[in-house]
Amino acid sequence: KTPIKLLVLPGDGVGPEIMQEASRVLAWLEKNRDVTFDLTYDLVGGASLAEYGVPIRDEVIEKAWASDAVLFGSVGDPKWAHVGFDKRPEIAILKLRQELGLFANLRPAKVFDALVDASTLRPEVVRGLDIMIVRETVGGIYFGEPRGIETLADGTRRGINTEVYTTGEIERVARVAFDLARKRSNRVCSVEKCNVMESGLLWKEVVTDVHDRAFKDVELSHMLADNCAMQLVRNPRQFDVLVTGNLFGDLLSDLASMLTGSLGMLPSATLGAVQENGKRPALYEPIHGSAPDIAGQGVANPIAQILSLAMLLRYSLDMQAEADLIEQAVANVLASGLRTADIMSEGMARVGTAVMGEAIVREMDKLQK
Ligand code: NAD
Ligand code: IPM
Ligand code: MN
Repeated sequence: KTPIKLLVLPGDGVGPEIMQEASRVLAWLEKNRDVTFDLTYDLVGGASLAEYGVPIRDEVIEKAWASDAVLFGSVGDPKWAHVGFDKRPEIAILKLRQELGLFANLRPAKVFDALVDASTLRPEVVRGLDIMIVRETVGGIYFGEPRGIETLADGTRRGINTEVYTTGEIERVARVAFDLARKRSNRVCSVEKCNVMESGLLWKEVVTDVHDRAFKDVELSHMLADNCAMQLVRNPRQFDVLVTGNLFGDLLSDLASMLTGSLGMLPSATLGAVQENGKRPALYEPIHGSAPDIAGQGVANPIAQILSLAMLLRYSLDMQAEADLIEQAVANVLASGLRTADIMSEGMARVGTAVMGEAIVREMDKLQK
């Protein structure tokens, strides 16, 4: 069988620690399934700055194009706070999204039964929760022009960022959201601030238009982003698929992660456009960052990274059974009482990153017998 080419980019902070655990799962798949991986590891973020003086090399972007998918850890390191804004480690992920055209960031927030008590919200609010946030990732205020910091004649400085969305950018991400909804509970809630921002007004119009033209069977609703933040905490189960812009999606998904118990639980898939050769560029990463406050201690939760690998199998390789197996193994290990520090609660067994990873792989062994 032709090997599957994966570019693996652990990055900074807890990135390499949790990627180690995802590698265990890759090794398990090679041993137990009819699949081989051609793995290429490379440096990004602060790790790349230290070695090459840039947060990401063009060569890495080329390797990403040449691979079947990218598995990404996290970037960012306070050590590099002094480098210029144009050299900061976070550029690595922003550039990968931009250069590969990865416009649709799928961020599922699913509550495992065993973790209903890990959320800061009451169990009856979060039990059974299964939502999907579709976040636009190559447009909006992250990339709009003009941008920068300028000094006026009187010495006043101005920091400028601009929210820009074109019809095409809104349309393509809306389609992804509607397509996903059809495979789920068939409901999409589109989130913007059309009461304040013209870009939000256009967003609402275009999403409605895409719906009316091609997805009439899907139930569409609209919500202002501030209300949405409140509703996610008040009654998160009212939602199925949420579709929103770059910045709101970033905030709302970190918020949604706490419904599941921890930021360390949430995986993501970022998908681009299908190319002429039929391939679709895609990157898989936890939604959390490099967690500098716990890096190097072996205590980070590897589940977001492992579930990101499951999403890779699901969306890039059509290995549904294997993705299901990983998710079931995670559920069972949590049910058995193992907890990393971030999801720890009374009466449970506290373990580190590696023990959690090993336990998940061992559970995969058991499940397949
Ligand atoms: P963060 O997501 O790194 O951490 C926020 C909090 O969540 C911290 O207390 C951290 O310990 C905890 N946490 C995160 N992941 C965890 C895990 N797997 N297990 C247990 N606890 C976990 O956010 P931050 O501290 O605001 O940012 C740190 C750096 O990461 C910054 O440089 C930021 O720019 C970067 N960042 C990168 C990405 C990415 O690579 N995609 C995402 C978010 C933030
Ligand atoms: C994320 C991160 C990134 C973002 C940063 C590190 C650029 O917060 O992936 O959620 O804002 O998109
Ligand atoms: Mn974020």
